[in-house]
Amino acid sequence: MKKQVMVPAEELERQKEYMTLCRQELTARFGEARSPLALVRSFGCQQNVSDGEKLRGMLAEMGCGFTEELGEADIVLYNTCAVRENAEQKVFGIVGQATHRKAVKENLLIGLCGCMTQQAHVAGKVKQSYPGVDFVLGTHALHRFPEILHGVLKSSGEGRRKRAFAVEESDGVIAEGLPVRREGGVRANLPIMYGCNNFCTYCVVPLVRGRERSRRSADILREARELIALGYKEITLLGQNVNSYGKDLEDDLSFPELLEAVNALPGDFWIRFMTSHPRDCTKELIDTIAHCDKVCSHIHLPVQCGSDRVLTAMNRHYTRAQYLDIIDYARKTIPDVNFTSDIIVGFPGETYEEFLETVSLVEEVGYSSLFTFIYSPREGTRAARMEDPVPYEEKNRWFQQLLEVQRDRGMTYYETCVGRTLRVLVEGEGRLKHGILSGSEPADGQCVLMGRTAHNMVVDFFGPRSLIGGFADVTITEAANWALAGRLADGALAD
Ligand code: 5AD
Ligand code: SF4
Repeated sequence: MKKQVMVPAEELERQKEYMTLCRQELTARFGEARSPLALVRSFGCQQNVSDGEKLRGMLAEMGCGFTEELGEADIVLYNTCAVRENAEQKVFGIVGQATHRKAVKENLLIGLCGCMTQQAHVAGKVKQSYPGVDFVLGTHALHRFPEILHGVLKSSGEGRRKRAFAVEESDGVIAEGLPVRREGGVRANLPIMYGCNNFCTYCVVPLVRGRERSRRSADILREARELIALGYKEITLLGQNVNSYGKDLEDDLSFPELLEAVNALPGDFWIRFMTSHPRDCTKELIDTIAHCDKVCSHIHLPVQCGSDRVLTAMNRHYTRAQYLDIIDYARKTIPDVNFTSDIIVGFPGETYEEFLETVSLVEEVGYSSLFTFIYSPREGTRAARMEDPVPYEEKNRWFQQLLEVQRDRGMTYYETCVGRTLRVLVEGEGRLKHGILSGSEPADGQCVLMGRTAHNMVVDFFGPRSLIGGFADVTITEAANWALAGRLADGALAD
C-alpha cells in the first residue's frame, strides 16, 4: 500500500487553532501596544527560502510584524542549511549573538529550524551548549510550528520555562494550505516536491529532508494561478530533483507535463525550475522547454565534476559523455539556451588529473556562471567515510584555478550579449553595485533599475520606477563583473 504523506486536514485545522492561541500568548508576553516583531533568516537553497516564507506566513497569522534587525526583534528564527560545514559554523556564530541579546531583552524568543536541526549531533549541541535557544524545529515539523511555539509560550507564561525539540526522523510529509508570506512581489518560489532519493555520496540532503514526495499537480496549478493573479511575473518550480516530479504519484503529471500545464495558464510571466539532475534530464524535457514559450531558456544542470571515476564515486549515475550529450541536444533544440552548474572540487580521492577533467569540461560547456564548492565532509554520508588524502590547502589551489578558468569563460559569455536587445524582468531599483553605470546619471524622472534576463543574468539600466514589476526591452551596452548594463530599447517607453 502507498504510504500516506499528506498531513490530514484536521491536523492543519488544529495548527490553525494554535495560531490563534499563539496570538493571545504573544500579546500577553509583549503587550498590546504594538505587534511583536519577528526576524526570520533563511540560509542555503531556495527550498529553505521557501520554508522561511511559510514560517513568516504562520507568524503573520499570529499577529507578528517583521524586522531584519536583531536589536528590534522579539522572536528570532534561524532557518539553517546543512549542506556544507561553513554554513553550520556561521549559524552557531549568530545564534551565540542572539542568545547574548537575552541579557538585555529577557523575553526574547529564539528558535532554530531547517536542515541543520535535523542532524542528531546538532540538536544535541544546541540542547547542551546553547541554553538560550527556546525551540528547535526540524524540517519535518514545519507545519507544527504553531503548536511547538504555543507550548514554549504557555510554559514560560506559567513561570516554568520549557524548551522544545521537534526533530524526529521521518520520511517526510506534505502540508497543503499553510499560509505563505513571500519576499517581494515580482518573483515567486513554488515548491513542487520535497526531499530527495538520489543519495549522492557527499550530500546530506536526503538525510535531513526525507524521501522524494510530489505535490499534486492540482495544488501546484492552483497556487500558480494565485501567484499570477497577485501580479508575480516569474514562478520558479522548486525541488531537489524536479525531473523526478510525479514518479511517486498515481494518475498525475510528469515534470514535462507539469511544465506544459503551467505554461498554458493565461498571463504574461516566466517559468523557471530548479534543480534538474542530469541523470533524468530527458530529451522529452528539453523538447518541452523548447516549445513552452514562458519557460526560460536557462538550464541549471549541476555536473559536480568532469571525471567518470569521480562521478561514479559520487553516485551520480551519468558519465561525462552523457552529460555533454544532453548539453549538445539542448543547444540544438532550445534557441539561445544557456547553462549554469554546481561543481565540487576535492571530492575524497580525487586526483589533480581528475580535477583537470572538470576544468576541461567547464571550458568545453561554457557556462554563463558556476557555483563552485570545496568538498565538505558531512556526518552520516558515505563520502565522509572515504579516504581523503589531499590537504585542504591543495584543494583550495585547485579551486582558485577553476575560478580563474570560469572567470574568462563566463565573461566571454556575458560579452556575447553586448549589442543584443533582451527582454528583462525589472525587479527593483539597482544599487550600482556593479559599478558599470557609475559616472553617468539617470535623466529626470528616471533611476537605476535592476532586472534579470531569461538567461538569469543581472542587468542595470536607467528608466522610470513605473517599470518595476514588469518586463522591459533593454539593449545591452556593456558587460562587467558578472552583470550587464544597458539602455531601454528604442520605443520601450512608447506607450
Ligand atoms: N561539499 C561541498 N559541496 C556540496 N554540495 C552538496 N553537498 C556538498 C558537500 N558535502 C554542493 C553541490 C550541490 C550544491 C547545492 O551544493 O554542488 O549541487
Ligand atoms: Fe544532494 Fe544529489 Fe539530492 Fe542534489 S540530487 S540534493 S546533490 S543528493
